[in-house]
Amino acid sequence: MKNVIILGSTGSIGTQTLEVVEKLKDKFNILGLACGKNIELIKTQIEKFSPKYVCCADEKDTLELSKKYKNIEFLFGENGLLELAKISQNDILVVATSGIVSVKAVLEAIKNKKTIALANKETLVMAGDIVMKEAKKNNVSILPIDSEHSAILQCLNKFDNPFAKNLWITASGGPFRNNTREEMEKFSAKEALNHPRWMMGKKITIDCATLINKGLEVIEAHHLYNFNYENIKVVIHPQSIVHSLVEFNDGSFIAQMGVPSMHIPIQYALTYPERFEGIKTNSFNIFNRNLEFFEPDTEKFPLLKLTIECGKQSGIMPVVLNAANEVAVYKFLNHEINFLDIEKIIFSEIEKTNNIINPTIDEIFEIDKETRKKLI
Ligand SMILES: NC(=O)c1ccc[n+]([C@@H]2O[C@H](COP(=O)([O-])OP(=O)(O)OC[C@H]3O[C@@H](n4cnc5c(N)ncnc54)[C@H](OP(=O)(O)O)[C@@H]3O)[C@@H](O)[C@H]2O)c1
Repeated sequence: MKNVIILGSTGSIGTQTLEVVEKLKDKFNILGLACGKNIELIKTQIEKFSPKYVCCADEKDTLELSKKYKNIEFLFGENGLLELAKISQNDILVVATSGIVSVKAVLEAIKNKKTIALANKETLVMAGDIVMKEAKKNNVSILPIDSEHSAILQCLNKFDNPFAKNLWITASGGPFRNNTREEMEKFSAKEALNHPRWMMGKKITIDCATLINKGLEVIEAHHLYNFNYENIKVVIHPQSIVHSLVEFNDGSFIAQMGVPSMHIPIQYALTYPERFEGIKTNSFNIFNRNLEFFEPDTEKFPLLKLTIECGKQSGIMPVVLNAANEVAVYKFLNHEINFLDIEKIIFSEIEKTNNIINPTIDEIFEIDKETRKKLI
């Protein structure tokens, strides 16, 4: 029986992780849960999974909850997340928060030698060099939840496969794959949120529409698998059946396929390297499938190229890009800007940035804060 703590249990990945755990309740026990502001949902989760520790973003919520749930130890804010990362009885920390709130908790969990099941991309985009160095030093596994990175791990069969030559990350192409830029300019948040294949949180769904998400995934793959950027390729695959591929030195390609469901990569991260039946997803019918693969159009989706470029430059470039993107996406969701303004804001911020190589974790947070402050 392994103990699991989920940061971001009330979100899209967090709730699906609880569904996976529920199906494998003889293997996993929920030791702790952390949410932001969705107090109604955390109450339901407390009653179903009886965690020993619960963390909320705001202290007032924990004070309210502690009146009802007397046997739970309540924590709050970023310090609460750090405390959860230190709990000695824990075996796996699932990082399913959005944004950058959990980056320090991940580093703390690594120092405490906890296995990390990582959904949150921002952790590796902002601080990949620091996080992976600490993970190596402490012999800690960072198991990907992102479906593409899970697919790559399944194809590689281990983290360090000397025969792998190129990683091929698939992308559905998002809701605007077949639209012109003139059309994109007019699309509303509702239209951009209509992802053709996956049901996800709002921020990542907009990131799929601009294709910045694929660039962030390239950065993630660079850190997770220690691959050069030149050996990580993006391929548009509208059917979202092949979740990624690995090309080997003898010319063989190995692909991981299945229905688009996050339950599979979440479960694989929890049970790695074993596999169990777990949640029954819609069965995958292999007959009469049309699988298409196209080169991405970086003229139409320039954020894909820019993001990979920022990854190559490393230092604070991915930090600025990530912060500018987050501010721009929330402005778009709040109807303050139009769809193509997202890229204008990011390009303008990147052009103004003088890179700092090998920033410390404090510098990373400072740059992130400054960038957001300027743009809000
Ligand atoms: N969704 C997917 O299919 C998918 C796939 C691959 C990777 N990812 C990555 O996984 C991460 C989560 O994505 P998501 O789609 O699950 O996001 P989401 O649905 O927006 O959920 C975010 C979670 O983070 C919590 N949270 C936000 N601010 C917090 C704070 N200050 N303190 C504690 N908890 C906080 C939220 O709590 P409340 O709701 O209670 O406020 C919620 O539980 C992102 O980095 C995303 O890029 C997601």
